[in-house]
Amino acid sequence: MRKTLSGISPYKVKPEPGDMIRLDNNEAYTSLLSYVDFSELEKTLIHRYPAESTEALIEAYSKFSGFPQNNLLAGNGSDECITLICQYALDPKDTVIVLEPDFSMYEKNARIMGANVEKVALQDDFALPLEIVLQKIEHLKPKLFLLSNPNNPTGRLYEQTEIEQIMMALETNGGGILVLDEAYIDFAGESPFVSKLLDYDNLIILRTASKALGMAALRLGFLAANDRLIEGIGSIKPPYNVNTVSAQIGTQLLKKPELLDQFLIMQLAQIAELEDIMKEFAASRKDAKLYPSNTNFFFMTLSGAKSLTDFLYEKKIKIRYFGSEPEAVRISAGTKEEHEKLRSALKEWSESYAPSIQ
Ligand SMILES: Cc1ncc(COP(=O)(O)O)c(C=O)c1O
Repeated sequence: MRKTLSGISPYKVKPEPGDMIRLDNNEAYTSLLSYVDFSELEKTLIHRYPAESTEALIEAYSKFSGFPQNNLLAGNGSDECITLICQYALDPKDTVIVLEPDFSMYEKNARIMGANVEKVALQDDFALPLEIVLQKIEHLKPKLFLLSNPNNPTGRLYEQTEIEQIMMALETNGGGILVLDEAYIDFAGESPFVSKLLDYDNLIILRTASKALGMAALRLGFLAANDRLIEGIGSIKPPYNVNTVSAQIGTQLLKKPELLDQFLIMQLAQIAELEDIMKEFAASRKDAKLYPSNTNFFFMTLSGAKSLTDFLYEKKIKIRYFGSEPEAVRISAGTKEEHEKLRSALKEWSESYAPSIQ
């Protein structure tokens, strides 16, 4: 094993029984699979390597998202896009900046390439510490700066001008690339960067079909960038990285924008319902702090977060625990029935199991 890999731990994935309520992964609570025409899939040549299907997928995603078709690559999830970017941009000992907290795969992929990862802590309310970020860029001249906007796990959306200032600082301090991961942008509205993508030398935007589009199992991610970056990253990409079955299902659904709009509206209603439940719970506890969210999940700091996570797990409701200081939970939106179970389990934990810290 390479020395740089020591200490890298696996991203833990634990299969759960079918009756577990899954509010831990920021997935959509249902999918649009019933709208897929499977007779189309029967014509699929599964003995042929996929090429046409990926092309059709990219064409459909281009129409859906507004990114030019020639400026898109598809990946086996945006996870693979993150890996490809790190492979493209990083030599051993290069510097990468990430925010803390943010999506853990940025640091992991950078470290796998032997890069030094500099973490910049978000402010107490999870705002961007812009001055510190700009100073770090000037000082460290990073090759890559990766961030999610809205942020996972905090749910916070940064200002367009903040992102632009980071991009300009990177440009004038060695030409490092900003990777703007918009995995949750559909929940927040339109990205101002779609129409500006080609204006920047050093911007890569990531998207995924795993969240608002409800296709996490298909593993479809997208990378948008200018011609030079697309060509460079394309030259190291495995040729057949997106499988035909996923690409065909994804293409069919992406060609139904009205259905996807309806699906988003349904999800936004569920997010609003979850927000009410979380607000009610947070108001009942002195030590809980719920943060505003522009995503399909909510982040809440609270003492007893581990006890709550374990309690809910026993009740077959899985949420995500963060052992950070202060400790926290992240809960994603589910169905009405799932929310009702969550509401009563939260109440029960508050009343019976953790009254002392109320
Ligand atoms: C910010 C962010 N980026 C990327 C991903 C990975 O998405 P995908 O399923 O496309 O690999 C996630 C998944 O949770 C995420 O939260």
